[in-house]
Amino acid sequence: MSYVYRVHLLPTSDLTLLPFLAGKFASLRLSALTVSAPAFSSTFEIESGFNAPDWIARLQRPLVHYLIAVAYVADTSLEHQSIDKGDWIGSATLIGPITKAAYTIVESGGPAPEGDDVESRWQMTAVFNAPQHRGKGIAKMLIRGALDFATHESKGRKSRTRIMIHPRNIVVKKLYEGLGFEDAGKCTLAEAYISNGDSNMLPSDGGKSDPEKYLNRLGTIMEKVSVPTI
Ligand SMILES: CC(C)(COP(=O)(O)OP(=O)(O)OC[C@H]1O[C@@H](n2cnc3c(N)ncnc32)[C@H](O)[C@@H]1OP(=O)(O)O)[C@@H](O)C(=O)NCCC(=O)NCCS
Repeated sequence: MSYVYRVHLLPTSDLTLLPFLAGKFASLRLSALTVSAPAFSSTFEIESGFNAPDWIARLQRPLVHYLIAVAYVADTSLEHQSIDKGDWIGSATLIGPITKAAYTIVESGGPAPEGDDVESRWQMTAVFNAPQHRGKGIAKMLIRGALDFATHESKGRKSRTRIMIHPRNIVVKKLYEGLGFEDAGKCTLAEAYISNGDSNMLPSDGGKSDPEKYLNRLGTIMEKVSVPTI
């Protein structure tokens, strides 16, 4: 079958639609945690225990935005390419805007962020595309969608978007380089959990009990700074 693909920003304001969208999101997320387990910090064991209100609450977290890639049969008209139709195949999570203080990781060795009057800051995480649709530019569409949203929300300022790549997944670096991301230092797993909104995954001592796992500076940070065109 041939498909046409579209990326949507997941809307959370329509409370009638939200339970349906949360169900679709849960299904996509659990499938991602199954087929690409090593790429994620969370696990199927944890998230398969979430109930309906948990998934709805997840979509309503403040400052967390979800880009969803949807596959439609090839001849679907534009007006029918809505988020409540088609097959959800991929997603990316964008967190922000983030304050300079919350964003800065002094020990990373990366460039210092600028002031709030000059730029807004964003963290991208959980980029995923279903295996049967890979190699068709869907991840690029999702990331561009996130960058466009960040640029729009930056209201004329620069936007700085960061991604943290786990050392065992370094092969995806090419994907981000192709979209203009550059090396911006190194992070620990503890810093990645906190920056990606997963601090609940950290042990209560912040990782001190297992420094090899949580405090080793092995993750790769990449950033893209987009400058407004006008
Ligand atoms: C990584 C992932 C999102 C790519 O999805 P995709 O839709 O196949 O990616 P695209 O088709 O948009 O690929 C864009 C570019 O990324 C690069 N790329 C993508 N996957 C790659 C891989 N596994 N190895 C090397 N390069 C890769 C290629 O350079 C490609 O550019 P090209 O087509 O010009 O050669 C997908 O493989 C996935 O979901 N993996 C599991 C989750 C994951 O690792 N997420 C990233 C977390 S940082």
